[in-house]
Amino acid sequence: MNSDYKEIEKAQIESISGSMYMLRRLAMTGGLDGFVYSDFTDIRYEAGPRVGTLYMRVNPRQAPRFVNSISANDCLRLRSVFHNFQEGTLEVGTVGHWIYATAAWKPGLQQGDLYALDFATCPHTNGHWPAGITGMQGKVVNLQLSDYCPHRGIFGMTGSGKTEAALQALSWLGQNVPKCALDGLSPNGDDQGNWLILIDPKLGKNSFRTAADFAGLVGPMATEIADIEAALTWAVSEMTRRNALHTNDIDRLPRLIIFMDEVQRATEASPLIATLLRRLATEGRTANIYLVVLGHSPRQSEFGGESTKSDIPGRQVFKVASGQDSHNALGTWKPNAATLTRFECLVLDPAGSDLFVRMAAFKCDSRVMDRVPRGLPQMTEWPALDANDYLDGGRITIQPSPLEAACAIAAAEHGYGRDNLQRMLEGTGVPIRSNGTADTLKKWGQAVLNELVGNPKLRKEQT
Ligand SMILES: Nc1ncnc2c1ncn2[C@@H]1O[C@H](COP(=O)(O)OP(=O)(O)O)[C@@H](O)[C@H]1O
Ligand SMILES: [Mg+2]
Repeated sequence: MNSDYKEIEKAQIESISGSMYMLRRLAMTGGLDGFVYSDFTDIRYEAGPRVGTLYMRVNPRQAPRFVNSISANDCLRLRSVFHNFQEGTLEVGTVGHWIYATAAWKPGLQQGDLYALDFATCPHTNGHWPAGITGMQGKVVNLQLSDYCPHRGIFGMTGSGKTEAALQALSWLGQNVPKCALDGLSPNGDDQGNWLILIDPKLGKNSFRTAADFAGLVGPMATEIADIEAALTWAVSEMTRRNALHTNDIDRLPRLIIFMDEVQRATEASPLIATLLRRLATEGRTANIYLVVLGHSPRQSEFGGESTKSDIPGRQVFKVASGQDSHNALGTWKPNAATLTRFECLVLDPAGSDLFVRMAAFKCDSRVMDRVPRGLPQMTEWPALDANDYLDGGRITIQPSPLEAACAIAAAEHGYGRDNLQRMLEGTGVPIRSNGTADTLKKWGQAVLNELVGNPKLRKEQT
């Protein structure tokens, strides 16, 4: 670890130990409502790179009471304890018998850019990438894409550090390129590594462009909507092809990893993109096809229903705009990603042992970027495949079929709920959406009323 980090840490520790002294005095003089000094059995601190935390150990029975009854005055007083180093929101909560109060360091006390190479002990990636560093112990958090966590979402408001986090992951994964070329698709060798697809509809200052000549790229970086549709359609066709192989053969193929920035922007512009993404999220895992999607906060409109949210099990959530956005991204009200500070994030990693890790993200490192082999994409342009050829039979359609619509109308008219509708359709061979209220079903139905096609079984049921 370089000496700058050490210097700043010393300054952090000095200011936080001053705060501990003040906290002791505050408790001793009855400065906190309904809370006396003897309630504290221990006070500790943790100096992370971006935030400082004071931990107060209390009688286990007192901890919830304290947090529940913490008054506005207490908050103000705690804030005054933190004034040495604190900036932004003060977050108070409990872990076990400890009450913690966390606040961001003042800018002078925040450590500057953190580079994974200064902390990571393993210089080679082997499918992992170091994503950030936790509090004082400086534990490096490594993430990976695996059978257990095949897809990851990186969420946060604009400028929170999403693209940088994805580039950091890309630069580590990009070192591992498969030896076989795309046309040597026969699964005979033991080629492993990563094939990459890059999708970035924004192309701003901080974009995937820096990675656009990585050697493992399948095709050119997709930026226009038509290209994005073509790239994702190719991925779905590759998934279909792989899923038809034997499991052993699939395992020997390189992993295909799709990095996609600004998901919202792309799915708003094209419902086909949303459909293709859903298909990849639900069926990609078994074909060694993994997704890393970046966006503001996952909403139903972009990621489909609850089921698709659970198809993106890994989340890295930077500062979001509101508590609701945090809830959408993490699936829980606490911890709250809206209270995070610059380049800090919460990580939900089902493949690791920790459920939520709060950490400061690493900045993408040119020393790592320089090690990535460069080359030309294996395809000079994305082939024009018809998405419908691959979506058929996948039970995902963009428009409801006339039959589906007829059922929806019938159900709504007969006042059937979704369960009844499903029962009514059993054995008719008609697929029915599992999401959508009777109202939306009816709307879809009316839109294609003209094309109504009867189903003999259903007609019998109705009369
Ligand atoms: N961990 C980090 N450490 C230092 N600077 C960072 C870090 N993450 C992002 N940045 C910087 O912050 C700015 C915004 O980051 P970016 O990843 O483009 O945000 P987003 O994609 O969420 O809009 C960029 O200039 C980037 O270099
Ligand atoms: Mg970005």
